[in-house]
Amino acid sequence: MIFQNADVVLKDRLVRADVTVEGGRIAAISPCGERGGADAVDCTGLTIFPGLIDIHVHLRDPGFEKKEDILSGSRAAVKGGFTQICCMPNTTPVTDNKVVVTYIKAKAKEADLCKIHPIGAITEGQKGETLAAIGAMKQAGAVALSEDGKSVRNAKLMANAMLYASDFGLKCLCHCEDPDLSDGGVVHEGYYSTLTGLKGIIRAAEDVIIARELCLAESLSIPVHICHVSTYSGVGLIRAAKERGVKVTAETCPHYITLTDEVIKDFDTNAKVNPPVREERDRLALIEGLRDGTIDCIASDHAPHHRDDKNVEFDLAAFGISGLETSFALCYTELVKKNAFSLPKFAALMSANPAAVLGLEGGEIAVGAAADLTIADLNEKWTVDPAAFVSKGKNTPFAGMEVYGKVKYTVVDGQIKYEEK
Ligand code: DOR
Ligand code: ZN
Ligand code: ZN
Repeated sequence: MIFQNADVVLKDRLVRADVTVEGGRIAAISPCGERGGADAVDCTGLTIFPGLIDIHVHLRDPGFEKKEDILSGSRAAVKGGFTQICCMPNTTPVTDNKVVVTYIKAKAKEADLCKIHPIGAITEGQKGETLAAIGAMKQAGAVALSEDGKSVRNAKLMANAMLYASDFGLKCLCHCEDPDLSDGGVVHEGYYSTLTGLKGIIRAAEDVIIARELCLAESLSIPVHICHVSTYSGVGLIRAAKERGVKVTAETCPHYITLTDEVIKDFDTNAKVNPPVREERDRLALIEGLRDGTIDCIASDHAPHHRDDKNVEFDLAAFGISGLETSFALCYTELVKKNAFSLPKFAALMSANPAAVLGLEGGEIAVGAAADLTIADLNEKWTVDPAAFVSKGKNTPFAGMEVYGKVKYTVVDGQIKYEEK
């Protein structure tokens, strides 16, 4: 198969080229030749990115298949341009043992769309009491550990988890939230929490656990990853730690770099997410963090919910945004169009860097690499419409928003797994 006449995003530059794929791998990146042929895909006007990688996704399977399942989540992933995703363990039963890890891998294989890497829980049942079967999960194919949805409350247990995980070559992905500080809050604490009367969550609820995880990582000399950073102060903590040589990586999400807490003024539960979207100061600091490398990558934190979980009073609504199908366009629009990030830099944030965080293969368009490609029309403007989502989760605060960048093809191991019709 040959993808012809495309703008190809290489590590440090853009080239107009044909990309030839053989046996699931990239066989050549060559000057544009004659057009046509049975296996040719005309990519004139399109841009080829290394397959996008999302290391923070909730697939809800097993247990909450009403919200999403591995097949519907895979469809959403490839429609969003993702060739690899990692799924969080807050399922039912919790992904805290090799049986659930094996189940997810088997169902992912059946879906046969994108590559799916399970993330195991840190503690049994995510209860924060006893370490989960870490070695067995690693053996079954878990690529990382996380207690996502909450933090491990006991710092000593978290330290043990990091030590144990590192013995197995696994990293802990930390959802940072002190439950005594967030204390039932539902939005960022500030002007709009006061205006609406909704209970606020102060930045420190996130920051103190970011600081704790950084202290543990530094003290134990073990790499750690900070999930969905939402505060300017969190960016500062991570930047300072990196300057001291702490082995820390971090992600932020599309909603934190595109929205502020103003979105909750009309009580839109689709904007209820944990951690909450914060203020302009935070949003700008996160973009700067992405620019200077303090924040390594973007993850969607795809958190699909059924409408019954969102169509309730704000206090009762579930936290989360269905993000796989909007992540690429939101980030392209915000970072490249509005903030002049280069295409290679943007591609690194969405592909090479998330791969590096977890040591996954992929992230580069190079001869010999797996032919995982995301092919998009960057000039196409479109309007987010949740009714058109293939995810079961239609919960998005971006409905009606105009964005640039439409995924046309998603190619995994040389096979077209998504083609826009
Ligand atoms: O908004 C969120 N949704 N934050 C989390 O930490 C969990 C996630 C979920 O599982 O719905
Ligand atoms: Zn989380
Ligand atoms: Zn999450």
